[in-house]
Amino acid sequence: MNWKNIITELLNIDYPIIQAPMFGVSTPEMVTSATKIGCLGSLPLGDSPADKCVELIHKTKQLSKRSFAVNIFVNQIPPLTDGLKVQYAKTKAFLEELAQQYNLSVTLPALDEIKLNSYHEQVDAIIGEGCKIVSFTFGNLDHFTIQKLKNNKIVTIGTCTSVAEAILLEKSGIDIICVQGIEAGGHRGEFAGNFLPQIGGLSLFAKVYEAVKAPLIYAGGLYNGKTVAAAKALGAQGLQIGSLLLGSMESALKEFEKQKLRNVDESDIILTKSFTGRYARGIRNAFTEAVENTEYILPYPYQNKLTSELRRAAKEIGNPDFVSIWLGQSINKYSGRPTDEILKELIEDTENQ
Ligand SMILES: Cc1cc2nc3c(=O)[nH]c(=O)nc-3n(C[C@H](O)[C@H](O)[C@H](O)COP(=O)(O)O)c2cc1C
Repeated sequence: MNWKNIITELLNIDYPIIQAPMFGVSTPEMVTSATKIGCLGSLPLGDSPADKCVELIHKTKQLSKRSFAVNIFVNQIPPLTDGLKVQYAKTKAFLEELAQQYNLSVTLPALDEIKLNSYHEQVDAIIGEGCKIVSFTFGNLDHFTIQKLKNNKIVTIGTCTSVAEAILLEKSGIDIICVQGIEAGGHRGEFAGNFLPQIGGLSLFAKVYEAVKAPLIYAGGLYNGKTVAAAKALGAQGLQIGSLLLGSMESALKEFEKQKLRNVDESDIILTKSFTGRYARGIRNAFTEAVENTEYILPYPYQNKLTSELRRAAKEIGNPDFVSIWLGQSINKYSGRPTDEILKELIEDTENQ
């Protein structure tokens, strides 16, 4: 099978298979394992402060000989109104009491204790570190940043969840577009319009393919040779693999979280705003049941910052009721083998279709 195409050329890789950036799960070791066999590794930086980004990039560079992508969140930050301040305090009190009912004693951060980082500082750190590929989600980069990245010969990959978003990304000069199907695990990347696009992944991909000329990556539900071959047949030049790697040896998930994944049933998987204020696909638990459909969901990133201490405390003691375990619709074995072996098997399986 010929895997070479415009994406392998632009990204200097052997296979157009992309280890998905998964903030909280993808480690420098996972990135290195993917790059070792000629796939693209993606290091998620999320909304981490610039110094933390530099630390993670250094660690990955020490391990990996080949280049890798770094991934950032480029969301807007809603203005802090008086109404939002009141709602923050109410939500904090509600969540602390909820945790108490489940014997989890936590003090969540007050509004003036949370720190919101701008992607601009991350971009400067990324350029300073000589990274060559930047992928992003939750929005589009501003014109000035796109020019800055281009001047530094950095390839950009933007995420869309609708045709309108794909057109916006292409018009602003983004090099490659990642089409995120609704099947995908983790956060939806939506950013244009105040709604959640409900279109299924294959329908979305086919429409984006007709609408733009930029090379396209497909993400969402790819977990075996048949699904990868199907996305390729639709015209996907890059194939992004997330949930298949959740259980891998290099995943940062804890063992109790991996066990939870391996026992998951399709009725356990939901799209929820409860943890972060943005829609994300993950496992239903006591937290999502108690918070979804209540008034105690602040806009992203405030809800995310507020609940992160709760999730950290729950993770530390192995309490599955309050952790956010993201995963996509395509349930798989969540193999504990190394990332390179899982991806190699996927490539072979695709070649055998
Ligand atoms: C645990 C988890 C965390 C994720 N974090 C990010 C992230 O930091 N940045 C990003 O662009 N996408 C993120 N995603 C989305 C993935 O990059 C990818 O689009 C998705 O996993 C593909 O669908 P699949 O899970 O069905 O393979 C995340 C997905 C998961 C499952």
